[in-house]
Amino acid sequence: MRERTPCNELSLDQTGSQVTLAGWVHRRRDHGGLIFIDLRDRSGLAQVVFNPDIAPETHRAAEDVRVEWVLKVVGQVEKRPPGTENPRLATGYVEVLATEIEVLNPSKTPPFYINEEQEVDGSLRLTYRYLDLRRERMQRNLVLRHKVIKFIRDFLDVRGFVEIETPILIKSTPEGARDYLVPSRLQHGSFYALPQSPQQLKQLLMVAGFEKYFQIARCFRDEDLRADRQPEFTQLDLEMSFVDEEDILGLIEELYVQIVGTVTPEKRVVNPFPRLDYKMAIARYGTDKPDLRFGLELADITKVGAESQFQVFRSVADSGGVIKGFAAPGCAAYTRRQLDELTEYVRARGARGLVTVALEEGQGDLEGLTMDQVRSVAARHLTLEEVKAIASRMGASLGDLLLIVAGPAGDVNNALSQLRNLMGERLELADPDTLAFAWIVDFPLLEWKPEENRWDAPHNPFSSPKDKDIHLLDTDPGEALAKQYDMVCNGYEVGGGSIRNHKMEIQEKVLKLMGHSKEAMQSQFGHLLNALEYGAPPHGGIAMGIDRLVMLLANANNIREVIAFPKTQSGTDLLFGAPAPVDESQLRELGLKLLEG
Ligand code: AMO
Repeated sequence: MRERTPCNELSLDQTGSQVTLAGWVHRRRDHGGLIFIDLRDRSGLAQVVFNPDIAPETHRAAEDVRVEWVLKVVGQVEKRPPGTENPRLATGYVEVLATEIEVLNPSKTPPFYINEEQEVDGSLRLTYRYLDLRRERMQRNLVLRHKVIKFIRDFLDVRGFVEIETPILIKSTPEGARDYLVPSRLQHGSFYALPQSPQQLKQLLMVAGFEKYFQIARCFRDEDLRADRQPEFTQLDLEMSFVDEEDILGLIEELYVQIVGTVTPEKRVVNPFPRLDYKMAIARYGTDKPDLRFGLELADITKVGAESQFQVFRSVADSGGVIKGFAAPGCAAYTRRQLDELTEYVRARGARGLVTVALEEGQGDLEGLTMDQVRSVAARHLTLEEVKAIASRMGASLGDLLLIVAGPAGDVNNALSQLRNLMGERLELADPDTLAFAWIVDFPLLEWKPEENRWDAPHNPFSSPKDKDIHLLDTDPGEALAKQYDMVCNGYEVGGGSIRNHKMEIQEKVLKLMGHSKEAMQSQFGHLLNALEYGAPPHGGIAMGIDRLVMLLANANNIREVIAFPKTQSGTDLLFGAPAPVDESQLRELGLKLLEG
């Protein structure tokens, strides 16, 4: 349709001229005589008027038309009569007086409204994803995603990066999550694995001398799904040679500030991004992906608890646990029911319970607190001095509610970090227009796995130890820090990377600590280890979660909202009905036989 005008481009300048529009019927109103149709295409909406006195045949045809039919309309652009303008619509001052109509395709009645922003059942949306994607919000989200990716490509191209595709059919190597496997037809009993990330391939590209690589890479991980996890997702994967940590951090920081400034300029970004070391992040927020849009920092009150007469605190402290908590401002008046609800919330997240201490408003400040103002099951067991000490560690004021969890450190941090997020949101402390990016650095290189009696790499086994810590690999591996960095934003991990081991000896040493024998190393990582012996340059990189970034930019709360064809929580594609059984003959060809049951 060469002569077609996008709906949104209609303007008063065109008054009197003839235009051809094509699109979907967004809304249709029959006013007895006149029929009004809001026609929608990707650009926006245009109002078309069918007048029986001017074009009776066309008007008659418009009587049959229903929502989501596809039409071509020819007509004349007119100024809307005074009083009927719609200033909220870009084309709200004009309308098209139809002279011709062609029904390009009718439509069944859609299973949900496409012309209204309303809650639709998630399964229905995914089953009819092509209709869901017609909705304005989804169109906006996918266009936003396109803009982000285009920006990334241009930004990196100008800086000399080369985009290189790497294989999707590759080999299963331990990388953290479970692999998706693809059976080989030509070699029965052997399997390809879909890459969890192009990690080792990008390192090989550095050995190959490309120096600056990137890829908008699809990654596959068979792990339990959450709002920010899909089995296949997209990374900006990047690697550079002859760089240190600052080069990568600086590059990504510049890229992200520019992306936000370009595609969502209404959002606020704190620049430069703050840096937190891992230990400090865990101490203050209970997590290595804190939401830094608000305070509510955790305080460790183990010492006060250990010396108190409160049995719950004492027994936890005596058994090597921790007692931590934070002050929820202005929440002292929470009802029994509200407190029970918070207790349930932390219990469902692994805590044994929640100790709440309400500091009721009164005369003066915390210094003047009396025991009459303290409302808590622990009140009988704590002295006024202890309550004051706890409150002041938490930076609390009168009127606040102290929320305390005691137990093993991991459980306490996990429950409190989630409770902190809940309260941040509930108290509207998390500004939706702020993107609080931050770097988490100084991660431990290895962590001890007591049940397996070996060390494991919390990120990936290719990260280099800090230069000053290399000697610790022989003496105290658990104390060695890694040249590893994660980027977080508003409570999500949005990226992570490291400077790698480019020297074979160090890489081997790390793999050995992780329990790999020489033979296992060769069979699983031989391709990389051998390459390191052929002049591998110092190198490092990062991978950024594109879905999570676009989710945050789009103010969405699930990455499904920014992926065209995502899977459900149980990994199902409802549109195609995948995964699905295959023919017996296909299995035979692959040399596979299903187990009974
Ligand atoms: P990592 O495993 O930390 O690092 O992944 C990098 C980023 O990818 C995003 N991400 C996900 N997004 C959606 N769904 C998932 N299932 C999912 N898993 C991860 C996150 C995460 O920060 N090769 C290394 C990077 C490197 O060292 O260069 C890697 O893949 O935003």
